[in-house]
This record gives sequence, C-alpha cells and structure tokens, in this order.
Amino acid sequence: MIQDLIAGGKESSAVNVEWAFSELLKHPQIFEKATKELDKVIGKERWVEEKDIPNLPFINAIMKETMRVHPSSPMLAPHFTREDSVIDGYDIPAGTRVLINTWTIGRDPTIWDTPEEFRPERFIGREIDVKGQDFELLPFGSGRRMCPGYTLGLKVIQLTLANLLHGFKWKLPDKMTPEELNMEEIFGLAIMRKIPLEAIGEPRLPAHVYGV
Ligand code: HEM
Repeated sequence: MIQDLIAGGKESSAVNVEWAFSELLKHPQIFEKATKELDKVIGKERWVEEKDIPNLPFINAIMKETMRVHPSSPMLAPHFTREDSVIDGYDIPAGTRVLINTWTIGRDPTIWDTPEEFRPERFIGREIDVKGQDFELLPFGSGRRMCPGYTLGLKVIQLTLANLLHGFKWKLPDKMTPEELNMEEIFGLAIMRKIPLEAIGEPRLPAHVYGV
C-alpha cells in the first residue's frame, strides 16, 4: 500500500512541474505574468507557503492549463465495467476494459478554443476544476477510482512551481531561444518530456531569504 502511494504520487507530481516549467520557459510573457503575481502577493522577503495558494489564481490557472495540455496520465488507469452499459449509443458489455483518453479530451477543438495554444487565462473566471466533476478536464480521473492523493498532489505541484518561479530567475542553457526548446512527448503510463528539461537559475530574492 505504501509502495502504491509512492509510485502513484512521485512521478505524476514531478512530471507536472516539469511540463509547467517547460511551458513557462517557452512562453516568457506568461512567465513574467506569473512572477508579477508572486511579487504582488508574496513580496520579496519570503518563500511561498501553502496558505498563499488560494491567493495565486494565475499560478493555479497555469497548473490547470498544464494538466489540460500535458495530463500526466494520458489514459488514466485502466478501468473495467462491472455491468452492461450504453454510452453515447454504444453498447459496452460488462467486463470491458475502458481507457479514458484525457490527452485527446484536453485537445478537443469542440471543447476548447484554440486547444493547441498554452493560455492559462482561459481558466481565469471559469468554474472548471480538476477535481473529477468537470469531464473536460480529468487529470486525476473521476469517481470511485479517482486519484486518492489529488489534494496532496495539487498542493505539492503548486507550491513547488510557485517557489521555483519566485525564488529564481531562469534562463535556457547555451543561449537557446524559447522557440528552440523541444516540447516532444513520450507516451507511457505518464507522459514525459522526450528530452529532459535543462534550465539555469539565479537567486532573485535577498540573500537572507535563502538562509545565507
Ligand atoms: C499531480 C499529481 C498527481 C496526478 C496528476 C495523479 C493522477 C492520477 C490518476 C489519473 C489516477 C488514475 C485515476 C483513474 O483512473 O480514474 C491516479 C491514481 C492513483 N493515485 Fe494519483 N496523481 C497524483 C498524485 C498522487 C499522490 C500524491 C498520491 C499519493 C500520495 C497518489 C496516489 C494514487 C493512487 C494510490 C492511485 C490508484 C487509485 C486506485 O486505483 O484506486 N497520486 N492518480
């Protein structure tokens, strides 16, 4: 059971932060907007804490947009129908293995306006959430087999991303431009970056905040 929790929580959380960070390096104007929100809400004298998360709507929108475009479990976990059902006119017999393709749902142009664009603003002022009630965005699944660690997972990734952005100035290595940053994916149980992300960080807060 403990192994399930570690296996279920580690890669999914890390992959989400890596994708969010990649998208921000790819879109410097969104990066800047996120940094401005952090400077306004947190200031420059401390790190971001869990209690700050509800006051960071743009960081929250970045996480949702990341989960839409790069769901860490593109097919969720395999499910299994326990009784005969009819969905959208299709007969699904009991005992069928069901895979939910959240990757395709996240890029469906009948649901999302310009789905290929990374635009966190699409979530600002909208009720849509990642908690299994809005079927167009199901990064944690839904129903009884939904991810049991989603509250922890969400807090960990929001806090990690927020502190990486708040605490450091970032640039791509070897004078790489945002356009040159490779965003290819590898499909698997989790969608990883084909080429691991490399970025160079420099402190942006006063030295005492780092305990120096
Ligand atoms: C951002 C982080 C995370 C994401 C995106 C994520 C995503 C998911 C998804 C999509 C599923 C399958 C749900 C389904 O098929 O309906 C799942 C299952 C699961 N997750 Fe997570 N998860 C995350 C974090 C965590 C954490 C932190 C833990 C534990 C501490 C955890 C433990 C599990 C376990 C044990 C299952 C299997 C549940 C079952 O089969 O009944 N996950 N997760």
